[in-house]
Amino acid sequence: MEFKITSGHLKNARVKGVVSFLFKEQKKFPLEIQELDEVLDGAVSQIKRELKFDGSEGKFMVVPTFGKGKTDFVIIFGAGSKKDFNLDKARRLGALSVKKLKELKIDRFLIDGEALSVKDSQGDTAQALTEGIILGGYRFDKYLSKKDNFKIKEVQIRVSRRYKKLAEEQVKTGEILANAQNFTRDLVNEPGNVITPQKLAEIAEELAKQYGFEVKIYDEDEIEKMGMNAYLAVAKGSANPPRFIHLTYRPKNAKREVALIGKGLTFDSGGLNIKPGDYMRWMKSDKAGACAVLGVFKAIGELKPDITVHGIIAAAENMPDGKSYRPDDIIKAKNGVSIEIGNTDAEGRLTLADALCYASELKPDMIIDMATLTGACIVALGEYTAGVMGNSQKLIEEIIEVSQKTGEWMWQLPFNDMLREHIKAPHADVYNIGTTRYGGAITAGLFLEKFVDKKIPWVHIDIAGPAHNTRGWYYHPKGATGFPVRTITTFLKKKSEE
Ligand code: BES
Ligand code: ZN
Ligand code: ZN
Repeated sequence: MEFKITSGHLKNARVKGVVSFLFKEQKKFPLEIQELDEVLDGAVSQIKRELKFDGSEGKFMVVPTFGKGKTDFVIIFGAGSKKDFNLDKARRLGALSVKKLKELKIDRFLIDGEALSVKDSQGDTAQALTEGIILGGYRFDKYLSKKDNFKIKEVQIRVSRRYKKLAEEQVKTGEILANAQNFTRDLVNEPGNVITPQKLAEIAEELAKQYGFEVKIYDEDEIEKMGMNAYLAVAKGSANPPRFIHLTYRPKNAKREVALIGKGLTFDSGGLNIKPGDYMRWMKSDKAGACAVLGVFKAIGELKPDITVHGIIAAAENMPDGKSYRPDDIIKAKNGVSIEIGNTDAEGRLTLADALCYASELKPDMIIDMATLTGACIVALGEYTAGVMGNSQKLIEEIIEVSQKTGEWMWQLPFNDMLREHIKAPHADVYNIGTTRYGGAITAGLFLEKFVDKKIPWVHIDIAGPAHNTRGWYYHPKGATGFPVRTITTFLKKKSEE
């Protein structure tokens, strides 16, 4: 798919389809469409009247031109109310356009970004449309013997002349972000029989080779030597050995240093506390945090921001076996904190514990971890919103602010001292579950806190809800979403420019 920016008149566009938009408040078409309508002898306004098309969200109209204009079809979508409009709605409209254009077999089209710009700059609108088009067109079809081979070849995004340069730049950013997100989706959608911890390490090595990152992979003996016994305990029951992955992007003029950690359970059966069948489905997605970190690396490999970034993944598989760790086991993490196991299905926090110790030793300016950590987070916030916690209110707010622009919904869950009481264990420093079933996302966050150097600002993002979806929503098809690749990359880019 090739993206181009244009400022030409709609009536002159030489493409198979011209896509534009109408807000609910707009009784008449804007001038550009009126001119196109004239070329088509009033066909657009006639169909508008016949369909009683009024710009409401979800409405659309298709006008075939029968050889009259330079385009074969004019398609107009309702953009809803102007005052409720935001950039994520532009993403959704981009995705909706792709869906309709595929049905009409239109592989070259122009999309009118100017018609959508309200309060945001047309650069932002063009970027959002680009993201929506790439994300909305995504399918995980590599295992299908019958594929839909239709591909969109060319997208022209139209903006007014004074925004052309800015839009060119931002569309490029949008392409990089959305393609990185699709890369993450591909990895998360791969099942546990394909992506094992070793395979994940190989993928990290390939990325390193492609973009010139430093990479170090530690095997089980080295993991043991480093004292990562919490992580090792989780991995013990699997025939697929663990791999600890450390990627580093180190540009010359780095202003800051950030450590990103992703939960990388290539499959979570629950271990000896085995999950019932319905809850075990989709647990291939328990590596979504790790795959998001890899997606962010793909994006920064192309965007090249002035900031050093570490990508840390303690990859493992949680399986029941004679060698598995058990409930009541007491283990010691890398920083010496002893952990009593209450439930082997609360395994993610054990792998993250050692990864957080490792990251703390690097003494970065901040640590951000992302993890499909708790079902409780989904109960608290619903499937579409990630829970954000940590030791730095400033950093939490900065990340949530970025997420409001990217449309990757995030909300803070507050720590408190009473819930801290609930992770006290009978015979060790800390329990890997809460002694109350309420506030489970927060007790998981509080557990992680024990393994972070208090001097380092740290944020934990629980993505159990939005990392994958069994129905699909907006510009996400069924399965992996690639959440929160765009937010984290945009945040890093922002930090590198401050
Ligand atoms: N990987 C799961 C969390 C999860 C649940 C992710 C649903 C995506 C969808 C995690 O390892 C887990 O099993 N957590 C337990 C913790 C409990 C045993 C304290 C949970 O949430 O039930
Ligand atoms: Zn689990
Ligand atoms: Zn898990």
